[in-house]
Amino acid sequence: MTHTVKPLVAGNWKMNGVRSSLAEFANITSGVSSALASKVDTMICPPATLTYLFAVGAVGTSIAVGAQDCHTADKGAHTGDLSAGMLADAGATAIIVGHSERRADHGETDAVVNSKAKAAWASNTIAVICVGETEAERKAGKAVEIVAGQLAESVPDGADAQNTVIAYEPVWAIGTGLTPTPADVAEIHTAIRSKLVDRFGDAGNKMRILYGGSVKPSNAAELMAVENVNGALVGGASLKAEDFLGILKAYA
Ligand code: PGA
Repeated sequence: MTHTVKPLVAGNWKMNGVRSSLAEFANITSGVSSALASKVDTMICPPATLTYLFAVGAVGTSIAVGAQDCHTADKGAHTGDLSAGMLADAGATAIIVGHSERRADHGETDAVVNSKAKAAWASNTIAVICVGETEAERKAGKAVEIVAGQLAESVPDGADAQNTVIAYEPVWAIGTGLTPTPADVAEIHTAIRSKLVDRFGDAGNKMRILYGGSVKPSNAAELMAVENVNGALVGGASLKAEDFLGILKAYA
């Protein structure tokens, strides 16, 4: 099952990067050989100010450009917001929705995340839907329950392997250098897989489930080898080509 799913390693640059960062992006695109690209899909999600610049820079390469968030609506009076259609127009082919930083900083609920995922689909972009428990929830033994609840509410009906990627990102592992053990990752990813199959049938077997949270070159091979882990969502280590390419070596 798992081995038939082509993995995806996506970099989430968060609120980092200016136009001169195109040089580092170029180091990433030029570092992904066609042999590597045949084994793993790669994507960088820069801040929206760089979407178009990077999309132009990615032409002729195997790297996709994604976005980090979108509004639920297609257009209208929403000062400062960006629609999925605008991001797609700028060259994004995927949009991260429901990242824990959005859930925490902007009070995004599962219902909002669900609407954003549908907005991404409506603009023909892939929704990368993030779920993950907090440290307190894990300590209380509720990790599987929390993740299953977020999955049920945040993933819209109609999800399939073409329009949706799931990212499991334990909140306590993001930017901390801490990671769950491979056994803990396996437990959650297997639970996610079984929920997806229960709800979406065989499409649930084909959907990519990424692990995110302190992925770096030194732990990527171990984490990516875990059953039902179909790639990674990488924050800090995606900002430097050397680190990002080091993570991709897990698939070389
Ligand atoms: P990190 O972030 O790799 O810096 O822990 C991951 C993420 O938030 O997607």
